[in-house]
Amino acid sequence: MSIQFHKESKTFHIHNQHVSYIFHVMRNGQLGQLYYGKAIRDRDNFDHLLEIEPRAMAVCAFDFDRGFSLEHIKQEYPVYGSGDMRFGAIDILQENGSRILDFQYEGYEIIKGKPKLKNLPATYVEHDDEAETLLVYLYDKVIDAKLTLSYTLYKDLPIICRNAHIVNHGKQELQLDHMMSAVVDFPDMDYEMLELTGAWSRERYVKTRKLEHGIQSIYSMKGHSGNNFSPFLALKRENCGEYSGEVYGFSFVYSGNFIAQADVSAYDTTRVSMGIHPQNFTWDLAPKEEFQTPEVVMVYSNEGLNGMSNTYHQLYRTRLARGVHRDKTRPILVNNWEGTYFDFDEDKIVSIATTAKELGMELFVLDDGWFGKRNNDLAGLGDWYPNLEKLPNGITGLAKRIHDLGLQFGLWFEPEMVNKDSDLYRTHPEWTLETPNRHSSHGRCQYILDFSNPEVVDYIYNMMEKVIGEANIDYIKWDMNRAMSEVYSTAHSAKQQGRVMHEYILGVYRLYERLIEKFPNILFESCASGGARFDAGMLYYAPQCWTSDDSDAIERLKIQYGTSMVFPVSSMGAHVSAIPNHQVCRNTPIETRANVAYFGTFGYELDLNKLSDEEKEIVKTQVNFMKEYRELFQFGNFYRLKSPFEGNETIWMVVSPDKNTAIVGYYRPLQEVNVAYRRVKLLGLDPEKNYHISLHDYTCYGDELMNVGLMTSDASAGERNMQVNEGDYLSRLYILKAQ
Ligand code: DGJ
Repeated sequence: MSIQFHKESKTFHIHNQHVSYIFHVMRNGQLGQLYYGKAIRDRDNFDHLLEIEPRAMAVCAFDFDRGFSLEHIKQEYPVYGSGDMRFGAIDILQENGSRILDFQYEGYEIIKGKPKLKNLPATYVEHDDEAETLLVYLYDKVIDAKLTLSYTLYKDLPIICRNAHIVNHGKQELQLDHMMSAVVDFPDMDYEMLELTGAWSRERYVKTRKLEHGIQSIYSMKGHSGNNFSPFLALKRENCGEYSGEVYGFSFVYSGNFIAQADVSAYDTTRVSMGIHPQNFTWDLAPKEEFQTPEVVMVYSNEGLNGMSNTYHQLYRTRLARGVHRDKTRPILVNNWEGTYFDFDEDKIVSIATTAKELGMELFVLDDGWFGKRNNDLAGLGDWYPNLEKLPNGITGLAKRIHDLGLQFGLWFEPEMVNKDSDLYRTHPEWTLETPNRHSSHGRCQYILDFSNPEVVDYIYNMMEKVIGEANIDYIKWDMNRAMSEVYSTAHSAKQQGRVMHEYILGVYRLYERLIEKFPNILFESCASGGARFDAGMLYYAPQCWTSDDSDAIERLKIQYGTSMVFPVSSMGAHVSAIPNHQVCRNTPIETRANVAYFGTFGYELDLNKLSDEEKEIVKTQVNFMKEYRELFQFGNFYRLKSPFEGNETIWMVVSPDKNTAIVGYYRPLQEVNVAYRRVKLLGLDPEKNYHISLHDYTCYGDELMNVGLMTSDASAGERNMQVNEGDYLSRLYILKAQ
């Protein structure tokens, strides 16, 4: 691993055995981008990689050189207006009304390890020799502002993490109107843009589109990262699939508004930009004020989409997620939401928990409805103390009964929200984000607390701390069920309203951080109407996230497949729920429901007391099976083999780090007749090892399974294994064990 600076040519080469990222100081004193991709050998000078063909009618930055125009030169942190007419990396309104900027190279520093980002989530190192960080210092003398671009290279991984930081050292009142975390100019446009798009209950569907001239953009302006687009995009070559090919991933470690886009110029270059969305963002950068962007994690892979995803999984599982639960298998839980909704009392909860214990489960999670006057979604949010009509002994009394059963106890909160029908709102109506003299839209009858105001965050913290501390809570599900509208904070001046949406997210992070500090043993699961805030920022605080409110096994194939593009199995909440399914009314076999949910943080979400005795026996077997294999599911290497977006079959697999055990999940929603022979090529096995395959009578070497494939069209398999149900919604797990 090394980050090198070649003094003569003023060139930076960030490289390890996988990846090279090269830029230099151009003759106008700004930074020019030279190369990003598969590792290439180092040399003193890469100036020849700067493409500066003279262009007729171009706007020249240099009076003497017709070729040197920022309109078409690849740059490192470009600004709009001085020849470059595209979307820039940074935009600052100055006192004289100008927006022209000129950040000149000043110097650099290379440090071991990776510095923390103040108040923001970020990937980290445990030992300084895991990574190296380059800080490049740039200076605009007219506004007297210093810009620092940061690049961290992880030692043996094709990962470069970026962020940017600015300080106003001058006397001007500056107004920062946008500031990207990273921009990369690529030399051509022969890519497809892969994005994860969707909506409530169909989050993170995989979509690809061929790049065309102009901007192709995904974003959230909803106040959270949202379920319409995940804060992630990839540029892949047309021939890049799951198994091979070249792809560049960009993942944003942030939970609020974002923009991620590819802008293709008239000269077929492609500019990728990622950062906080400029809509509703202005940061008053008064003298001595600073601004820190969130982090972008860039991953390069020439081993296809699986190669990219494996890298993200490894990094996010071990160097983004934190805390005591990071490396621990997760408890098998039962959540009462789909089982009872708001209709429960203490005895009903205890009776479900009692059955959960009998079936081998480990954690009971009490969802929405336990607090204030919360009997439906009209009231109660903000009053984080128990509803004594439902729970006469409070949360403390209930938690004791659950703990006495030998189960852990988890509790649902939605800390950022308030209903108008609540004591909190009656006491502090000024604490919501609402614009004076304007209509205020509600979402699910609720309003958003002003988390940009530290006083509000402190108040909510104190309420939560009391319940959690008294009842000895083991797990928290932190929900967030609406997007923002009419955003305005009474805690900020008129000039500072542009800060509010970002400061809100910083407030959310601060509350998480305080709770984690106070209760380090709590396992947090984030949630936002299912997966509307499933982002890398959240993973820093909560190692798992409720993937989607859609708990149907067949729907989940697409959702979990898409989510796995970036996020590890250990982060995906996945439950077996009742049939007919509450979102799509589908009846799937209980085996298939579990076979999908095993590839996640497994649990049940139904009234266990409504199961037949036969179903209870099946659930017991499933719970035992998960206990035996959860280490493999949650911490093995995950590979996607066949996409639910491309046909009737979905196939994925996990392999243990020592390659001795693997499980292949095979799913075929609709029964087909008289099918051809079908095989799927496996990944990640040891070619030399001979594997016994649970549903077959023979053993196969890893090289056969990876090159010839695993036979999946063996119709008789069903008669030989109880996990198999022929007919629609079939699924199978093939368990491979090295002999
Ligand atoms: C939305 C979540 O996604 C559900 O799991 C559940 O917790 C409800 N909110 C409760 O209101």
